[in-house]
Amino acid sequence: MSEAPRVVGCTIENRIAWVSFNRPEKRNCMSPTLNRQMLEVLDDLEFRDDVGIVVLTGEGTAWSAGMDLKEYFRETEAQGLRGIRKSQREAYTWWRRLRWFQKPTIAMVNGWCFGGGYGPLHACDLAIAAEEAQFGLSEINWGILPGGGATKVAVDSMSMRDAMYHAMTGEPISGTKAAQWRLVNEAVPLANLKTRVLELCEILLKKNAFALKATKDAVRRVKEMTYENAEDYLIRAQESANFFDNDGRKEGIRQFIDEKSFKPGVGTYDISKQKKS
Ligand code: COA
Repeated sequence: MSEAPRVVGCTIENRIAWVSFNRPEKRNCMSPTLNRQMLEVLDDLEFRDDVGIVVLTGEGTAWSAGMDLKEYFRETEAQGLRGIRKSQREAYTWWRRLRWFQKPTIAMVNGWCFGGGYGPLHACDLAIAAEEAQFGLSEINWGILPGGGATKVAVDSMSMRDAMYHAMTGEPISGTKAAQWRLVNEAVPLANLKTRVLELCEILLKKNAFALKATKDAVRRVKEMTYENAEDYLIRAQESANFFDNDGRKEGIRQFIDEKSFKPGVGTYDISKQKKS
């Protein structure tokens, strides 16, 4: 681990890793140091047996106020193209890592979420926001276009009209509106945010972990494919998932057909009865 002050928090409780942007005095904006530490933390968590899910949240009043205009933009630009590309790589690397993370991931958006923050927001599989949170593509307000994937995130999540309005006006929207515009799954009052995220964690922790990883990857991949390509990809993806875990689905079938202990339409099989792969 690097010697810099810790600007990323991480605690593990009951198989949930709570990872936090931890620069509350700077509204958790992403500096090169923060980006490096996030990658280290994700590296450490990805294959640990005591971690089944990762929740990404922010300390204080912000989730993340986007890229650090001073340390990420102004100071790296002063180093020339080498510095700029290095900083971009450090940011994009941990977002990409998060997009394809081995464990399910939830963005728990407690407050401000701007610009570059849309990278990790979109990288998380699910996003639950506080109604009181504020989201914005604020780039236009300081004279740039929403880069770093932010425009793509808006267009992929929202309707064309909403994305265009969001990007061109730079007006912040509430968590409630972010849910209406499909930037997040849902919004709940800030006071209930952690409880709702914990409920969701409990649901996901009961699922077959290999099937979850294959499922989340499939959802991201097939979005860009034709129907024919998606059909083929999904056959191969299932067959390759069987390589890592061939007992899970057999146990699921057994519990439904033979044991009659659950119904897949309305429940989940008991993974604790399954042989370890
Ligand atoms: N980059 C660099 N510094 C930032 C920052 C960012 N993205 N966001 C906040 N900060 C710093 C402020 O400069 C201030 O530093 P200081 O205490 O040394 O003066 C500190 O964080 C607190 O910010 P402040 O603006 O006083 O907090 P606030 O609660 O009144 O407002 C925001 C919060 C998020 C509305 C406001 O900080 C803001 O607009 N930030 C920029 C958001 C943005 O456009 N991000 C997109 C970047 S791609």
